[in-house]
Amino acid sequence: MKHPSPVEQTRFEPEDMSPPALRRAVLDGLLASPKNLPSAYLYDARGSALFEQICTLPEYYPTRTELAILQTHAGEMAARIGPRAVLVEPGSGAGVKTALLLAQLQQAAAYVPVEISPTALEATVQAMAARFPQLPIHPQQADFTQAFTLPPALRHVGGAGELGGRVVFFFPGSTIGNFDPQQAQALLARWRLLGGADAGLLIGIDLRKDAAVLQAAYDDAQGVTAAFNRNLLVRINREFGADFVPDAFDHLARYDTVQGRIEMHLQSREAQAVHLAGHTLRFDAGETIHTENSYKYALDGFAALAGQAGWQLDAQWTDPLQRFGVLAMRAA
Ligand code: AVI
Repeated sequence: MKHPSPVEQTRFEPEDMSPPALRRAVLDGLLASPKNLPSAYLYDARGSALFEQICTLPEYYPTRTELAILQTHAGEMAARIGPRAVLVEPGSGAGVKTALLLAQLQQAAAYVPVEISPTALEATVQAMAARFPQLPIHPQQADFTQAFTLPPALRHVGGAGELGGRVVFFFPGSTIGNFDPQQAQALLARWRLLGGADAGLLIGIDLRKDAAVLQAAYDDAQGVTAAFNRNLLVRINREFGADFVPDAFDHLARYDTVQGRIEMHLQSREAQAVHLAGHTLRFDAGETIHTENSYKYALDGFAALAGQAGWQLDAQWTDPLQRFGVLAMRAA
């Protein structure tokens, strides 16, 4: 991302990197019924800055809770991972969480940030090189939601290589919750294959909890999440020449207890028409655009999902209120 933060990593492409497939998904989603937008589109430069602000809000507990878990248990996590690990981080890193873990790892063999944006990738490399001058860094410019490969120099690791240790994927932030369970399983299965027989995974999971706590986390009193959501329309106006009036849409966040997910929507206040790329989009009063899902898991439910992807639970850590979990997994 363009504005890497010391607190949180943001993980999607910036505005000038919007790949054709994502642009196509925006158009398809707005022409579909019900209307929807890819949540990856939330993260242009302003969206990324707003997300960083969200991470510091009193209602948004995941960032500080996961950070506290890491601060308390990074040593145990590093012990589970073992010596000479190759730490692969899908999404741009350089945050406190990655640094906390790397500082505890015994002679890490390499750090491999995987990020689609060259600017964000470069920022990660710079930050990590300054913090860990001895650490070999092998950046991979790739969309981590698709298949990617490890850098050639590291392909022989995974137990038998001369570099030694395991390939371990670090995926904090509960970003896995923004994929539906089938996509999440497919992603984890790909990483399992990529990491080889001795692969490891350290992943942050937002846990199921009281609906009111979740509701507040995604509909904060200062309206930062609402601005983050509406910014999608600002971005579409800019990039597609559309004529959305963002303030004619309300931010909605609702917890679906059956699916175990927070849904974000933009709800049209009135009947209106919006023009975009030669199309006229008609909205009824109250009609919504579904903009994001954020799945919440029970610890055993997530372990079962990861189990289907070839991972088995090694250890898990939670905060005292059981709001967030960090799971260490290994190849089954
Ligand atoms: C990036 N991701 C884990 C955030 C979440 O909690 O699902 C995105 C977010 N959406 C609204 N607030 C934060």
